[in-house]
Amino acid sequence: MLNITVLVSGGGTNLQAVIDAIENGTLKDVRIVKVISNKEDAYALQRARQHGIDAECISPKNFTDRSGYFETMSRKIEEADTQLIVLAGFLVVLSGDFVKKWTGKIINIHPSLIPAFCGDGFYGLKVHENALKRGVKVTGATVHFVDEGTDTGPIILQKAVEIEEDDTPVTLQKRVMEQAEWIILPKAIDLISKGRVFIKDKRTYIE
Ligand code: GAR
Repeated sequence: MLNITVLVSGGGTNLQAVIDAIENGTLKDVRIVKVISNKEDAYALQRARQHGIDAECISPKNFTDRSGYFETMSRKIEEADTQLIVLAGFLVVLSGDFVKKWTGKIINIHPSLIPAFCGDGFYGLKVHENALKRGVKVTGATVHFVDEGTDTGPIILQKAVEIEEDDTPVTLQKRVMEQAEWIILPKAIDLISKGRVFIKDKRTYIE
Protein backbone atom coordinates (compact mmCIF):
# COMPACT_ATOMS: atom_id res chain seq x y z
CA MET A 1 0.00 0.00 0.00
CA LEU A 2 1.39 3.42 -1.00
CA ASN A 3 0.34 6.23 1.35
CA ILE A 4 0.06 9.57 -0.41
CA THR A 5 -0.50 13.11 0.85
CA VAL A 6 -1.94 15.52 -1.72
CA LEU A 7 -1.12 19.25 -1.51
CA VAL A 8 -3.65 21.58 -3.12
CA SER A 9 -4.53 25.28 -3.45
CA GLY A 10 -7.69 25.40 -5.53
CA GLY A 11 -10.54 23.48 -7.07
CA GLY A 12 -8.96 20.08 -6.70
CA THR A 13 -10.04 18.44 -9.96
CA ASN A 14 -6.73 16.57 -10.10
CA LEU A 15 -7.26 15.42 -6.52
CA GLN A 16 -10.73 14.27 -7.63
CA ALA A 17 -9.19 12.28 -10.50
CA VAL A 18 -6.98 10.44 -7.99
CA ILE A 19 -9.90 9.84 -5.60
CA ASP A 20 -12.01 8.50 -8.50
CA ALA A 21 -9.22 6.21 -9.70
CA ILE A 22 -8.87 4.76 -6.19
CA GLU A 23 -12.63 4.37 -5.73
CA ASN A 24 -13.23 2.74 -9.11
CA GLY A 25 -10.35 0.34 -8.63
CA THR A 26 -8.02 1.60 -11.40
CA LEU A 27 -5.57 2.75 -8.76
CA LYS A 28 -5.01 -0.20 -6.47
CA ASP A 29 -2.86 -0.31 -3.35
CA VAL A 30 -2.84 3.48 -3.03
CA ARG A 31 -4.39 5.39 -0.13
CA ILE A 32 -4.75 9.18 0.29
CA VAL A 33 -3.80 9.62 3.94
CA LYS A 34 -4.04 13.41 3.98
CA VAL A 35 -4.92 16.48 1.93
CA ILE A 36 -3.36 19.82 2.85
CA SER A 37 -4.25 23.21 1.40
CA ASN A 38 -2.59 26.57 1.98
CA LYS A 39 -6.03 28.15 1.53
CA GLU A 40 -8.98 27.60 3.86
CA ASP A 41 -11.54 28.14 1.08
CA ALA A 42 -9.98 25.72 -1.42
CA TYR A 43 -12.80 23.56 -2.77
CA ALA A 44 -10.31 20.68 -2.84
CA LEU A 45 -10.62 20.45 0.98
CA GLN A 46 -14.37 19.86 0.68
CA ARG A 47 -13.85 17.23 -2.02
CA ALA A 48 -11.49 15.36 0.31
CA ARG A 49 -13.84 15.55 3.30
CA GLN A 50 -16.76 14.33 1.18
CA HIS A 51 -14.74 11.18 0.61
CA GLY A 52 -13.78 10.75 4.26
CA ILE A 53 -10.20 11.90 3.76
CA ASP A 54 -8.40 13.82 6.51
CA ALA A 55 -8.08 17.37 5.14
CA GLU A 56 -6.71 20.53 6.69
CA CYS A 57 -5.55 24.02 5.84
CA ILE A 58 -2.05 25.01 6.88
CA SER A 59 -1.60 28.62 5.84
CA PRO A 60 1.83 30.24 5.48
CA LYS A 61 0.13 33.40 6.79
CA ASN A 62 0.10 31.85 10.27
CA PHE A 63 3.89 31.51 10.32
CA THR A 64 6.51 34.21 10.68
CA ASP A 65 8.89 32.52 8.23
CA ARG A 66 8.91 29.96 5.43
CA SER A 67 11.13 27.54 7.32
CA GLY A 68 8.63 27.32 10.20
CA TYR A 69 5.80 26.75 7.73
CA PHE A 70 7.58 23.96 5.92
CA GLU A 71 8.79 22.33 9.15
CA THR A 72 5.16 22.08 10.26
CA MET A 73 4.11 20.80 6.83
CA SER A 74 6.83 18.18 6.94
CA ARG A 75 5.88 17.04 10.45
CA LYS A 76 2.18 16.71 9.56
CA ILE A 77 3.03 14.83 6.38
CA GLU A 78 5.32 12.49 8.32
CA GLU A 79 2.73 11.95 11.06
CA ALA A 80 0.31 10.76 8.37
CA ASP A 81 2.84 8.06 7.43
CA THR A 82 3.24 9.50 3.93
CA GLN A 83 5.41 7.77 1.33
CA LEU A 84 4.67 10.04 -1.64
CA ILE A 85 3.70 13.73 -1.78
CA VAL A 86 1.55 14.74 -4.75
CA LEU A 87 1.39 18.41 -5.71
CA ALA A 88 -1.99 18.81 -7.42
CA GLY A 89 -2.24 22.53 -8.13
CA PHE A 90 -0.29 23.52 -4.99
CA LEU A 91 0.83 27.07 -5.66
CA VAL A 92 3.27 27.69 -2.79
CA VAL A 93 6.93 27.41 -3.82
CA LEU A 94 8.52 24.64 -1.71
CA SER A 95 11.52 25.46 0.47
CA GLY A 96 14.89 23.95 -0.39
CA ASP A 97 15.00 22.06 2.92
CA PHE A 98 11.56 20.55 2.33
CA VAL A 99 12.54 19.36 -1.15
CA LYS A 100 15.83 17.96 0.17
CA LYS A 101 14.08 16.04 2.93
CA TRP A 102 11.52 14.49 0.55
CA THR A 103 13.73 14.18 -2.52
CA GLY A 104 12.46 11.53 -4.96
CA LYS A 105 9.18 11.44 -3.04
CA ILE A 106 7.43 14.52 -4.42
CA ILE A 107 5.65 14.65 -7.77
CA ASN A 108 3.91 17.58 -9.48
CA ILE A 109 1.39 17.94 -12.28
CA HIS A 110 2.05 20.85 -14.64
CA PRO A 111 -0.34 21.93 -17.43
CA SER A 112 2.12 22.08 -20.35
CA LEU A 113 4.66 19.91 -22.10
CA ILE A 114 7.76 20.79 -20.05
CA PRO A 115 10.15 22.49 -20.90
CA ALA A 116 7.60 24.70 -22.68
CA PHE A 117 5.62 27.21 -20.61
CA CYS A 118 7.01 26.29 -17.22
CA GLY A 119 9.18 27.77 -14.48
CA ASP A 120 8.63 30.82 -12.30
CA GLY A 121 5.32 32.56 -12.92
CA PHE A 122 3.86 29.78 -15.08
CA TYR A 123 0.89 28.33 -13.23
CA GLY A 124 -2.80 27.74 -13.85
CA LEU A 125 -4.38 29.84 -16.61
CA LYS A 126 -1.17 31.79 -17.24
CA VAL A 127 0.34 28.67 -18.81
CA HIS A 128 -2.50 28.41 -21.33
CA GLU A 129 -2.53 32.16 -22.02
CA ASN A 130 1.14 31.95 -22.95
CA ALA A 131 0.69 28.84 -25.09
CA LEU A 132 -2.07 30.56 -27.09
CA LYS A 133 -0.06 33.79 -27.36
CA ARG A 134 2.90 31.87 -28.78
CA GLY A 135 0.62 30.13 -31.24
CA VAL A 136 1.72 26.57 -30.52
CA LYS A 137 -0.37 23.87 -32.19
CA VAL A 138 0.12 21.25 -29.49
CA THR A 139 0.32 21.56 -25.73
CA GLY A 140 -0.37 19.08 -22.94
CA ALA A 141 0.56 18.15 -19.41
CA THR A 142 3.54 16.73 -17.54
CA VAL A 143 3.98 14.78 -14.31
CA HIS A 144 7.48 15.13 -12.92
CA PHE A 145 9.48 14.61 -9.75
CA VAL A 146 10.17 17.82 -7.89
CA ASP A 147 13.75 18.98 -7.43
CA GLU A 148 15.20 22.26 -6.13
CA GLY A 149 14.25 24.17 -9.32
CA THR A 150 10.81 25.19 -10.61
CA ASP A 151 9.47 22.48 -12.95
CA THR A 152 13.00 21.17 -13.57
CA GLY A 153 12.77 17.69 -12.02
CA PRO A 154 12.86 14.34 -13.86
CA ILE A 155 9.82 13.88 -16.13
CA ILE A 156 7.67 10.81 -15.47
CA LEU A 157 4.81 11.11 -17.98
CA GLN A 158 3.62 13.57 -20.59
CA LYS A 159 0.51 13.69 -22.77
CA ALA A 160 -0.11 15.98 -25.73
CA VAL A 161 -3.32 17.87 -26.46
CA GLU A 162 -4.10 19.61 -29.78
CA ILE A 163 -4.93 23.29 -29.74
CA GLU A 164 -8.10 24.32 -31.58
CA GLU A 165 -8.51 27.54 -33.59
CA ASP A 166 -11.15 29.03 -31.31
CA ASP A 167 -9.51 28.05 -28.01
CA THR A 168 -9.47 30.53 -25.14
CA PRO A 169 -7.26 30.03 -22.06
CA VAL A 170 -10.33 28.65 -20.26
CA THR A 171 -11.38 26.15 -22.95
CA LEU A 172 -7.79 25.04 -23.38
CA GLN A 173 -7.29 24.59 -19.63
CA LYS A 174 -10.41 22.42 -19.48
CA ARG A 175 -9.33 20.23 -22.41
CA VAL A 176 -5.78 19.82 -21.07
CA MET A 177 -7.25 18.70 -17.75
CA GLU A 178 -9.74 16.28 -19.31
CA GLN A 179 -7.47 14.85 -22.00
CA ALA A 180 -4.15 14.86 -20.15
CA GLU A 181 -3.90 15.83 -16.47
CA TRP A 182 -6.66 13.63 -15.05
CA ILE A 183 -5.22 10.66 -16.98
CA ILE A 184 -1.48 10.95 -16.40
CA LEU A 185 -1.56 11.93 -12.72
CA PRO A 186 -3.28 8.72 -11.50
CA LYS A 187 -1.18 6.75 -14.00
CA ALA A 188 2.10 8.14 -12.63
CA ILE A 189 1.00 7.36 -9.07
CA ASP A 190 0.13 3.84 -10.19
CA LEU A 191 3.57 3.33 -11.76
CA ILE A 192 5.30 4.63 -8.62
CA SER A 193 3.14 2.44 -6.34
CA LYS A 194 4.20 -0.59 -8.38
CA GLY A 195 7.87 0.37 -7.97
CA ARG A 196 8.25 0.78 -11.73
CA VAL A 197 9.78 4.29 -11.84
CA PHE A 198 13.54 4.75 -11.46
CA ILE A 199 15.55 7.97 -11.52
CA LYS A 200 19.03 7.98 -13.03
CA ASP A 201 21.07 11.00 -14.15
CA LYS A 202 18.13 13.38 -13.76
CA ARG A 203 15.77 11.37 -15.93
CA THR A 204 13.31 8.61 -15.24
CA TYR A 205 13.09 5.08 -16.58
CA ILE A 206 9.87 3.08 -16.43
CA GLU A 207 10.27 -0.66 -16.15
C1 GAR B 1 -4.00 22.27 -12.76
O1 GAR B 1 -4.21 22.64 -14.08
C2 GAR B 1 -2.52 22.01 -12.50
O2 GAR B 1 -1.88 21.41 -13.58
C3 GAR B 1 -2.04 23.41 -12.29
O3 GAR B 1 -3.04 24.01 -11.48
C4 GAR B 1 -4.30 23.44 -11.81
C5 GAR B 1 -4.98 22.98 -10.54
O4 GAR B 1 -6.29 22.57 -10.82
N1 GAR B 1 -0.74 23.43 -11.67
C6 GAR B 1 0.19 24.33 -11.98
O5 GAR B 1 0.02 25.24 -12.76
C7 GAR B 1 1.51 24.16 -11.25
N2 GAR B 1 2.54 24.94 -11.86
P1 GAR B 1 -7.08 21.63 -9.81
O6 GAR B 1 -7.03 22.30 -8.44
O7 GAR B 1 -8.49 21.62 -10.37
O8 GAR B 1 -6.44 20.27 -9.82
